[in-house]
Amino acid sequence: MYRTERLARDIVRDMGGEHIVALCVLKGGYTFFADLLDYIKALNRNSDKSVPLTVDFIRLKSYSNDQSPSCVKVIGGEELAALTGKNVLVVEDIIETGKTMETLLELLNQCQPKIVKVASLLVKRTPKSSGYRPDYFGFEVPNKFLVGYALDYNEYFRDLNHICILSDRAKEKYKM
Ligand code: IMP
Repeated sequence: MYRTERLARDIVRDMGGEHIVALCVLKGGYTFFADLLDYIKALNRNSDKSVPLTVDFIRLKSYSNDQSPSCVKVIGGEELAALTGKNVLVVEDIIETGKTMETLLELLNQCQPKIVKVASLLVKRTPKSSGYRPDYFGFEVPNKFLVGYALDYNEYFRDLNHICILSDRAKEKYKM
């Protein structure tokens, strides 16, 4: 939680001058999104100059089992046009290869937002990384499959309050 508060401070420092559209990447990003926004709202309340904050949601086609997706599909992308000229903060759960975020950024940039920054709770250390790094991230994590705090394995484990490594037994039990 301390880390999320720190990220909120950095974001408000960098983007706080103007209206921010916080864009949550569903489904994995929703818990981090809610916590991060709580901190941003608290900072807003305690500051002389409150920043207008609006929210939006996008859903990306995610994982089958625990392999990185070879093709990324955006659902709800037609509404991205509303982001033209806006300061957009994309909020994601985890960056692995970086392909998902690179695809989303390409799409967002077609809509010509004023600025786009990305906050991801986690960045995975993996040799498969494209080299993409988000503007803000909470923690770097080992190359393991993680679940909990809205991160899922075939839709299971999103409801865990903590993040943990998925065991081989659970992988077998919940595989599609
Ligand atoms: P990337 O395109 O390889 O960076 O994959 C990013 C997406 O894959 C994230 O938005 C997650 O949905 C999913 N993902 C990657 N690693 C994990 C993990 O360890 N647990 C759950 N989902 C993951």
